[in-house]
Amino acid sequence: MYNFTMSIPTEIIFGQGAEEQAGEQMKRYADRILLLYGSERIFRTGLGQRLTARLEEAGCTVVPQGGVTANADSELIRKAVRVIRDRELNGILAVGGGSVIDSAKAAAAGACLRGTVEELFRGEIEPETFLPVGAVVTLPATGSEANGMAVIQDHETHDKLLRYFPQLKPRFALLDPALTVTLPARQTAEGGFDVFAHAFERFFDLRRESVLLDRMTAGLMKTVTECLPRVIRDPGDLQNRAEMMFAATAAHSDMLGPGGDFACHTMSHILTKEYGLAHGAALAMLIPAWCSEMFSKNGERFAEFYRQVFGEKEPRKGQERLEAFVDGIGLPRKLGSVGVGAEKLAEETMASVPQVGEGFCDGMSEEEIIRVFRRVMP
Ligand code: NZQ
Ligand code: ZN
Repeated sequence: MYNFTMSIPTEIIFGQGAEEQAGEQMKRYADRILLLYGSERIFRTGLGQRLTARLEEAGCTVVPQGGVTANADSELIRKAVRVIRDRELNGILAVGGGSVIDSAKAAAAGACLRGTVEELFRGEIEPETFLPVGAVVTLPATGSEANGMAVIQDHETHDKLLRYFPQLKPRFALLDPALTVTLPARQTAEGGFDVFAHAFERFFDLRRESVLLDRMTAGLMKTVTECLPRVIRDPGDLQNRAEMMFAATAAHSDMLGPGGDFACHTMSHILTKEYGLAHGAALAMLIPAWCSEMFSKNGERFAEFYRQVFGEKEPRKGQERLEAFVDGIGLPRKLGSVGVGAEKLAEETMASVPQVGEGFCDGMSEEEIIRVFRRVMP
């Protein structure tokens, strides 16, 4: 039996115009707000102005701070912390994808610290209190809007650093699928594959031992394999955008149950660091490669995966369907150029965590990790 504890305290407001509730939601927790975002895109589309208006109508003071870049660079987070302290802010509204939401979480912890954000993420200091965070999602991918995880990139070393605090679960997430129609095909695909990956990693955590959890994760993956290609073909398809948006939140909050193997996620971070790949793009290479490499360890589990997600009884055909799914959404399955070799990638990956993967097997061996990286080399 799988024993677990789960909690999803984030209030999820889903559907058309959800972002209009930004003011009333935020006011419940704070009244001096850092509006954190990436590029000026949110002001070009009018979203930034609408959010500012709703916050001000609710009686909040709003201080905008843009400039978050993909992978949540720690320098911008340090800057956000300085603004929060200088302007005595007491809450953060994140507007964007995982990088903005994770930066907001890091700043929410960092604002209450003596020490740097990097020290916090390297586990050298611990926060005592956290500012409240709310999220307006414009890219369905990470599920950061309803979980306590934050992933940032060290500005100096480019290492990806992860920390989890239950207190960092956003207080609310405003999910309007219409906010995602401006996403280019590439980012839609990368984000969508990340959603698939969060369910995939849970499916391959054998400690979860539950038919219900298996069917929930497989159902989510099946939904993504159907809806994501439709959204790529027709970016204005709001119904399928809506499916992808809730799938993202469900996949990486506790809604599909806790746990997960996360070997592919652990390996993905080094490809982002060394090859500059977006998170979802790295996973789209690694997951098919991991399946081919690890199949012999537990053929029965793979057969179950291919059957439940792709309806294929024969594993070889199931693997072809997985690869065709990646190809169909326009993501490459191999690196474009040779840089850092598989051995070095494996060495750095192993140095970053006590063990690569847990739940499928007792951690991958160095040889297995090297072979997975070799499979994605050009
Ligand atoms: O700067 P803006 O304008 O927001 O542009 C972003 C960014 O360039 C753009 N974008 C977002 N919404 C858009 C849009 N462009 C047009 N229209 C829209 N509606 O998309 C680009 C990528 O955004 P980003 O936030 O970087 O992507 P994603 O949501 O995939 O987040 C990736 C980050 O999250 C971490 C990853 O490691 C990576 O750093 N993760 C966080 C997790 C978590 N907190 O639970 C788990 C994940 O596994 C992952 O590790
Ligand atoms: Zn992910």
